Amino acid sequence: MSSAETGYRVAVLGATGLVGRAMIQVLEERNFPVSELVPLASPRSKGQPVTFNGREFITDVPSAEIFKGVDIALFSAGASASREWAPVAAAAGAVVIDNSSAFRMDEGIPLVVPEVNPEAIFDDEGKAHKIIANPNCSTIQMVVVLKPLHDCYGVSRVVVSTYQSVTGKGKEGRDALESELAGNVPAEFTHFHQIAFNAVPQIDAFTDNGYTKEEMKMVNETKKIMGEEGIQVSPTTVRIPVYGGHGESLNVELRSDFDINEVRALLAGSPGIVMQDEPSARLYPMPLTSYEKDEVFVGRLRPDYWQPRTLNLWVVADNLRKGAATNAVQIAEELVGKL
Ligand SMILES: NC(=O)c1ccc[n+]([C@@H]2O[C@H](COP(=O)([O-])OP(=O)(O)OC[C@H]3O[C@@H](n4cnc5c(N)ncnc54)[C@H](OP(=O)(O)O)[C@@H]3O)[C@@H](O)[C@H]2O)c1
Repeated sequence: MSSAETGYRVAVLGATGLVGRAMIQVLEERNFPVSELVPLASPRSKGQPVTFNGREFITDVPSAEIFKGVDIALFSAGASASREWAPVAAAAGAVVIDNSSAFRMDEGIPLVVPEVNPEAIFDDEGKAHKIIANPNCSTIQMVVVLKPLHDCYGVSRVVVSTYQSVTGKGKEGRDALESELAGNVPAEFTHFHQIAFNAVPQIDAFTDNGYTKEEMKMVNETKKIMGEEGIQVSPTTVRIPVYGGHGESLNVELRSDFDINEVRALLAGSPGIVMQDEPSARLYPMPLTSYEKDEVFVGRLRPDYWQPRTLNLWVVADNLRKGAATNAVQIAEELVGKL
């Protein structure tokens, strides 16, 4: 029987992808108790070696057989692979932490950011849910900041504009920028339009209401994670040609008055947040400075110039880390000793 002492058998589905690689790196960096790593990907990658803690593991493909004896399965291979394999892994006894959008809004499946709602990982009897969903990257970094504000002042409305890294679209998204920068013109643009030297105000497909799917994820996932149907999120999501992380400009309307220095101290002392807010020293977070960091960085804090009980701030996080891999590993850490 696996335990915190003997270590857990941990599968990573999507191990050769940007998020999967980050998961393996984060498991190692945070000394997660792993007895055996089971790297999984598509048949294209079968046989690829993966080094973890100095040991070599060989990438395989998912199957009912391979999930037997796996304690924790971190999934980052897209929604269709999750729909196919998460029930199989769960039936084999694993707890699945799924990075895709497959189950996020399903009733009975918790959607978890450990700084916000860690209690949702477990059912009423204290047992871990068999499938736990990791939210969308742009939602995660926003709710880490909204949670302390909501607890202290009440958040009624958020107007958010995102500046999202090409790595949010995986290897394909990153390679598209590199290829365009090298002067290649593809038959079809990965980011809908040229992304080199550009900004594209469309991430994912449009829905009937004029918002993109990415924007509606921010609207709906925020309510579910925060447990507050009443929070109004008004998003515009934009892809920009950077690698390091996503930036978000937030205009947050609160339910009560605030002192900006108290807000700064509140956020600086809240879990998972690093405050970088010294305009006179040109200190504010940027995608490059958040690259490969696990925290959410906050700066440019100021009261709205016109509207009372409202503040502006700038929030940056590495989408492959806190927006995906780190959040999933933090959920796995909550399971240690409780499986
Ligand atoms: N990138 C982000 O910032 C981010 C943030 C949050 C959530 N996510 C989610 O995480 C997932 C992966 O994203 P990514 O950015 O890492 O993408 P990626 O770089 O394109 O990697 C995709 C991974 O999935 C594997 N894969 C694809 N289809 C598969 C299948 N049918 N069976 C088994 N493995 C399969 C790939 O294997 P091969 O190498 O063999 O093709 C690769 O390991 C997506 O669901 C995405 O929505 C991404």
